[in-house]
Amino acid sequence: MYYQPFSYENNAHDARPLQQVLREIAKAINDEFQAIHYYTRLAELAPSNQFRQMILGIRQDEIKHFHWFSRAYHELTSKYPPITLGVQLPGSFKRGVHDSIKDEQETVPLYHKIASQVQNQQISQRFLRAAADEQRHAQIFSQMAAGI
Ligand SMILES: [Fe+2]
Ligand SMILES: [Fe+2]
Repeated sequence: MYYQPFSYENNAHDARPLQQVLREIAKAINDEFQAIHYYTRLAELAPSNQFRQMILGIRQDEIKHFHWFSRAYHELTSKYPPITLGVQLPGSFKRGVHDSIKDEQETVPLYHKIASQVQNQQISQRFLRAAADEQRHAQIFSQMAAGI
């Protein structure tokens, strides 16, 4: 896939594209933060040890993403992103699994978009790898949903 990157370094008079991608990265960081807490609760609600281990594995990926994205934000801004507390935790395992399929699927295009808009190749690669992880998470949750 070929992306046409914009050059914000050479385009200092127009900070809008950078501001927009930073807002999206900040949203991604907050989504990961919420997901870590959400999956902690979902693992507690799991009806079997097998499902619990699967969810804890996904949770580990979200922790990894949270660190990748926070570092990326810091590299781009020399600041830490604002984190908003206030995650709504799953009320039941079944409902939580179904909502997670949707949430995981929704992050994939957002991460692809961010990857296409940042010039730093390492940051771009990390968003692409995270998008592949989220796609896999959606598949795992879909398989779980079929088994409950
Ligand atoms: Fe993630
Ligand atoms: Fe995920």
